Amino acid sequence: MEGIDQLETYFGAYLPQFFYACLAPLTLFAYLCFVNVPSAIVLLVCVPLIPAAIAAVQTWAKKLLSKYWGQYTALGDTFLENLQGLTTLKIYQADGYKNEEMNREAEKFRRITMKVLTMQLNSITIMDLIAYGGAALGMIMAAAQYRAGHVSLAGCLLIILLSADFFIPMRQLGSFFHIAMNGMAASDKIFRLLDLPEKPEKTAVCPDGDIVCESLTFSYEADREALHGVNLVFPKGSFTSIVGESGCGKSTVAAVLMGRNKGYAGSVRIGDAELCELSEDSLMRQITYVSHQSYLFKGTVRENLRMGKPDAEDGELWAVLERVNLAAFLEGEQGLDTGISEKGGNLSGGQCQRLALGRALLHDSPVYIFDEATSNIDAESENDIVREIHRLAGTKTVILISHRLANVTASDRIYVMENGAVTESGTQEELLKTGGMYSSLWNAQQSLENYGKDGSVA
Ligand SMILES: Nc1ncnc2c1ncn2[C@@H]1O[C@H](COP(=O)(O)OP(=O)(O)OP(=O)(O)O)[C@@H](O)[C@H]1O
Ligand SMILES: [Mg+2]
Repeated sequence: MEGIDQLETYFGAYLPQFFYACLAPLTLFAYLCFVNVPSAIVLLVCVPLIPAAIAAVQTWAKKLLSKYWGQYTALGDTFLENLQGLTTLKIYQADGYKNEEMNREAEKFRRITMKVLTMQLNSITIMDLIAYGGAALGMIMAAAQYRAGHVSLAGCLLIILLSADFFIPMRQLGSFFHIAMNGMAASDKIFRLLDLPEKPEKTAVCPDGDIVCESLTFSYEADREALHGVNLVFPKGSFTSIVGESGCGKSTVAAVLMGRNKGYAGSVRIGDAELCELSEDSLMRQITYVSHQSYLFKGTVRENLRMGKPDAEDGELWAVLERVNLAAFLEGEQGLDTGISEKGGNLSGGQCQRLALGRALLHDSPVYIFDEATSNIDAESENDIVREIHRLAGTKTVILISHRLANVTASDRIYVMENGAVTESGTQEELLKTGGMYSSLWNAQQSLENYGKDGSVA
């Protein structure tokens, strides 16, 4: 914001002053030539010394100011991060350490601020010396010319009175220059951001159809692949699950399908179109992604739900709240006007997730991806959500990513991933029969979930 404020000084004050500072001495010169040429020349010759001094300072000032802005934004970033993580810092008693760290950064910032001020003060002093020195030279010249009888008393007085005006516009330009330099350093950063190449807008509309990934490879970093040539098929209207250990690449697949992980190799086709050629708009209308940390916005339940369908009537919103089992709770509050704080801070984890599911259901897209949408929530909310996902699977293409295998048993097909590759696939029965990784995971989870239930453990 500050950088933007200073852009105004550059365009609004500096540039007009620049033209004024160039024209004023020339006009005065032309006028004074009729009074006394030598004095006019002395004055005119001294004027360019001011911009020369500015230019001499500029390279050095530019570097200093760019460093200053760097430190300024770095300090702002750390301050914001520490403020957001203050609770965590308190829990681990790391606030003292962070305090010292910030003090060190603030001290660095103080030093560079002082350097900038010193630089500005010095260059203003130099400009003053030139301006007043030049004016004095002009006056002396006028007096000498008067003594020699080359100019009348009135002419001499006129030159003395006007000599300061030769320099004042340039001198003012110099003062604006420092503020403008700040603006220029800030604008460099702003324009660098604005000048980043923008990919041409894609216009192809996402068709509705099977989603097929062939030899899909993706890397976040140049030399480390997260997906190594995966083949996945999500037929239209089917219910498919992806399971596998943490870090095997499940969310990476989801992010590729959502168009968030750009630059994949291989092919991802939706119907007869390649995913990377589709417009983002139409892809977002085609696929809804629900993760375990869906964001709820500060506002009301109605506002949050309407994000899924802006023109939804209250009746429709209540119907969806009924489906996600939140209606009874909200009736006890202020209904659809119940306030939601930032990130849904005033709701429980399960309630947040159920509301997020409600919003997703309202979006009514042909494809749904649920990425650990039931993680970290109570069993009851999990059951509600899984029930809705299964119901949805009857009418939509559903892709479910889950750690808990009990949630995926009803899938038409289950993909098992390991280290960025698909190692097994099939229905629950087929996978259990083959006795691979899925069946060992299944058995491990079953014995954990049944632990103590059959009376074998007292
Ligand atoms: N933004 C990222 N930048 C760099 N590497 C990433 C990024 N996100 C994920 N990875 C890496 O990609 C690999 C796959 O991650 P991914 O998030 O797809 O796993 P996952 O199967 O969803 O795991 P989990 O079950 O824990 O959610 C991991 O090795 C991870 O370190
Ligand atoms: Mg994940």
